Amino acid sequence: MLKTGIRSHINNELTKKDIGKKVSLCGWVLSRRDHGGVIFIDLRDRYGITQIVFNPDKSFFKEADKLRREDTIIISGKVKKRPKGMENKKIKTGEIEVLVDSLEIVNKSDVPPFEIDSRVDVNEDTRLKYRYLDLRRGDLQKNLQVRSQITKIIRDYMEKNKFLEIETPMLTKSTPEGARDFLVPSRTHSGKFYALPQSPQIFKQLLMVGGLDRYFQIVKCFRDEDLRADRQPEFTQLDIEMSWVNEEDIQKLCEGMMKDIFKKILKKNIKTPFKRITYKEAMDKYGVDNPDLRYNLELYNVDDIAKKSDFNVFKNTEIVKCIFLDKEITRNDLDLLVSYAIREGAAGLAWIKVVNGKFEGNLSKFFSNSIQKELIKKLNIKKNGAILFVADREKTVNEVLGRLRKHLAEKYDYIPKDKWELVWVTEFPLLEYSEDEKRWVSVHHPFTSPYEEDLKFLDKEPGKVRSKGYDLVLNGVELGGGSIRIHKQEMQDKMFKALGISKEEAELKFGFLLKALRFGAPVHGGIAFGLDRLVMLLTNSESLREIIAFPKNKAAEDIMSEAPSEVFPEQLKELNIKIDKKKNENK
Ligand code: AMO
Ligand code: AMP
Repeated sequence: MLKTGIRSHINNELTKKDIGKKVSLCGWVLSRRDHGGVIFIDLRDRYGITQIVFNPDKSFFKEADKLRREDTIIISGKVKKRPKGMENKKIKTGEIEVLVDSLEIVNKSDVPPFEIDSRVDVNEDTRLKYRYLDLRRGDLQKNLQVRSQITKIIRDYMEKNKFLEIETPMLTKSTPEGARDFLVPSRTHSGKFYALPQSPQIFKQLLMVGGLDRYFQIVKCFRDEDLRADRQPEFTQLDIEMSWVNEEDIQKLCEGMMKDIFKKILKKNIKTPFKRITYKEAMDKYGVDNPDLRYNLELYNVDDIAKKSDFNVFKNTEIVKCIFLDKEITRNDLDLLVSYAIREGAAGLAWIKVVNGKFEGNLSKFFSNSIQKELIKKLNIKKNGAILFVADREKTVNEVLGRLRKHLAEKYDYIPKDKWELVWVTEFPLLEYSEDEKRWVSVHHPFTSPYEEDLKFLDKEPGKVRSKGYDLVLNGVELGGGSIRIHKQEMQDKMFKALGISKEEAELKFGFLLKALRFGAPVHGGIAFGLDRLVMLLTNSESLREIIAFPKNKAAEDIMSEAPSEVFPEQLKELNIKIDKKKNENK
């Protein structure tokens, strides 16, 4: 099937069955060995390796002698059995070699800046600068292959469920997903800008108003935000929207899709329905809204017991929570954990060692025997270990202990290999107070429907209103998030009001959506998955850069093509844009 006008076979194809055949092969020189005047070359392509052999009696032997790593060649020759003892059991073509009788050098390669070998560690910026060479490495090729398989499984699944794949515009008006927009100046409308979509959120809702019932799209999204290992400025979503559904319908659809993906990619049967925990439970037990359920190390609220102790730090605080680490660790290790907690924003980390059911350490004197017993019972302590407490405002306690939990799991090997924990986090708060902006902001986005029974809190205690939003979390990574949407204009108006967005501003930003909600909108809802994140997890990759062909580096640059870059003065002139050079220099 992969035979072309140039090659008769690919490099993982030829076996004993082909001995005696005349073949033509092409690819890259992986390695070259000289054995007493005979040259052996491992020829590589995406599919594998074939050993080819040059005998000194050939007219092109001199040229063959000059072949170096990464040169591209086309050869033809005869398949023969490798001499006894020279077989390589590790590769499919290991029992044969091809005796070359013609050689065409297609393209000589400069000495590559790094070895094209997945086992060799190479500085990431160098890899990204020469991404086309990096892409020749087996790991990256495998990841891109898995990515392609996953998108195929998704497309098949969505089609089976009657979804239409519909494209939405890239040059749009700003959509509110909470990050900064990438703006594109308009030449024809001087002084005006398009925004690249942070997601197709409004368009997919309009598709539902348009009666399309079931939409999906594998789509690029753009967000100007600080980068992390699981964040890129442009990334890909699997975006979904459905009409006439409730939360369970959407979740069920996604569970079926995940089941298919896990089955086909990892050969694993995952159990459906997935676990579900409320946002509140996630925060209480794990301190985060994306809990990793592969290990325990739960957070315990011990406020009531701790307040009875004589330790002043615990008495004069909003809340005391703790983690029990069932490992006998040294004083030095405890000190390291204290420093870690302080770096993460705690005022301190109080610890008590538990040895044979008794408290030990400086702070144990503050805990009477009965309080000790009470704590041991509450934390269900059966082994020796250490209790690690943080006392502070609830937000800080959760943040610090949430991170400490993860840190402990990594440091002390609590994370089982090859375990996959999928969980739906539900009943998110609709709004949260932003200290920075001094106003209430949406936890998901402003089109998320609230629980009707909580609406009574909207005016006076907005933090108490729960939303019909949900996230899917895999091994502690937020894979996707969505919600049932608001489908009535009055409700949408109310929401903007709660967010402190004036009628005029709402009209200016989302007027077209508000108008659409006056023309018969169906009940609708959806979700979007970070496709890159899913591929990253399923390929056990450390960062999104391992599963995107041409990613941006940590500073949001493409150091290969050198984007972003300056543009020609004429281009700026056409756009009526002036660069403040002074400001640039001061940066
Ligand atoms: P949300 O903003 O939660 O929802 O995004 C959905 C998913 O996209 C992924 N993601 C990212 N991946 C890589 N780099 C980034 N910078 C990045 N930002 C987000 C995450 C996330 O769970 N319109 C709504 C969805 C909806 O309500 O239907 C939305 O975009 O995996
Ligand atoms: P101090 O009274 O500041 O000397 O602290 C005594 C112990 O309590 C030290 O081990 C601190 O790390 C710890 N500690 C201080 N503040 C807190 C806090 N907010 N939460 C938990 N432990 C704390």
